[in-house]
Amino acid sequence: MGLLIQGGEIVTADSRYVADVYCEGETITQIGVGLTVPARTEVVDARGKLVFPGFIDPHVHIHLPFMATFAKDTHETASIAALVGGTTTFIEMVCPNRNDDTLEAYHLWKAKAEGTSACDYAFHMAVTKFDGKTADQLRQIVADGTASFKIFLSYKNFFGVDDGEMFQTLTLAKELGVITTAHCENAELVGQLQAQLLAAGKTGPEWHEPSRPETVEAEGTGRFATFLETTGATGYVVHLSCAPALEAAMAAKSRGVPIYIESVLPHFVFDKTMAERPGVEGMKYIMSPPLRDKKNQKPLWDALAQGFIDTVGTDHCPFDVKQKELGIGDFTKIPNGIPAIEDRVNVMYTSGVKTGRLDLHRFVDALSTKSAKLFGLFPRKGTIAVGSDADLVVYDPDYRGTLSAKTHAGNNDYSGFEGTAIAGRPSVVTVRGKVQVKDGRFVGQKGRGRMLKRVPQYF
Ligand code: URP
Ligand code: ZN
Ligand code: ZN
Repeated sequence: MGLLIQGGEIVTADSRYVADVYCEGETITQIGVGLTVPARTEVVDARGKLVFPGFIDPHVHIHLPFMATFAKDTHETASIAALVGGTTTFIEMVCPNRNDDTLEAYHLWKAKAEGTSACDYAFHMAVTKFDGKTADQLRQIVADGTASFKIFLSYKNFFGVDDGEMFQTLTLAKELGVITTAHCENAELVGQLQAQLLAAGKTGPEWHEPSRPETVEAEGTGRFATFLETTGATGYVVHLSCAPALEAAMAAKSRGVPIYIESVLPHFVFDKTMAERPGVEGMKYIMSPPLRDKKNQKPLWDALAQGFIDTVGTDHCPFDVKQKELGIGDFTKIPNGIPAIEDRVNVMYTSGVKTGRLDLHRFVDALSTKSAKLFGLFPRKGTIAVGSDADLVVYDPDYRGTLSAKTHAGNNDYSGFEGTAIAGRPSVVTVRGKVQVKDGRFVGQKGRGRMLKRVPQYF
């Protein structure tokens, strides 16, 4: 049975018009006004609604052994939360510990997602060491369809790579034609500052930001750019949080370094005062790079509006209250991460598009199309066109509601967005032609998601 999305206003990164979209099987097969379709077609009335391409979250953590615990979601819970919030594809970081075997980790992550994710997904492969086996294993992983790497300049001794390993990874990435994403903070400085603060009895969550100040991120961003420039590899800075790091990335962009920038939802709307709340209330807002002084938000919004920040992800990484309490008495032990996979589209629409800070097309581009292009998914994903996958978000701009952990689909006992008002919500979400969400509820098929195999882009 076909699916007709009737009479909505289609909005892509570069077009806006009222039309019907007809999907046959998993694919969009016709777009036009007043389409004639077979009798048994399922019809979604989209009049008065916006119709977006399925949103893509380029940076999530689902299976994640990290900081003496595991992130809370399963692929089932995270994918349902993603879909309820309008995200139809996510790209998950495969993050082995330095002691783990890279290839074994890759197969473990794949096995966790297969048959359990309700939406489509891909992976970025984190390179957390570079030894005699690494190059050969990474070649196999790229050949298997995971055509992007991730490196951490921070998290010394478990995820972090040193400069030599960064050089080797980028040299191989250049040869293979894949993009390398990077968490840019100077590991040595973080370690030194953490030790200094703890020695001075500064142990609460309010000291997390001072242990990783803006300079630490600016240095990491600048160094990553220098390594890209030297190796000729293409790079993508993840979760860029502050003006000095933005300046470092922009300086590199302006001298022609192939570097792209992602910022994530928490850094647009939260600031460091939230992590300064006493006890576990502050711990809920610990992530890295940390929430920043509020003065950084305007430069981020401006750079996003102008397209200098290319994409908006979440860095979804949920730990519950009990896990956050592992850091009582020592802020360096608070599991880093904020859950956000369900909230990105609605919060960015409300605080960006509705306030006039973000043009509607740039919104679609940054939350969907650009990630599809950068990570080898376009035009299968990231747009509404004949031949594209029928991943569609019928969005109700008149919906009004309030975010709360009580109504969230994700597996966590708090939401950093508790009480946040939203002005807009997906009313219908489809994955490859099947309705998966209606009016904020998952109504579809668990395990429908498929791994998206990607080929090198040779930028
Ligand atoms: O705090 C964060 N960001 N947690 C997840 C790991 C990472 O750095 O992306
Ligand atoms: Zn990170
Ligand atoms: Zn991350």
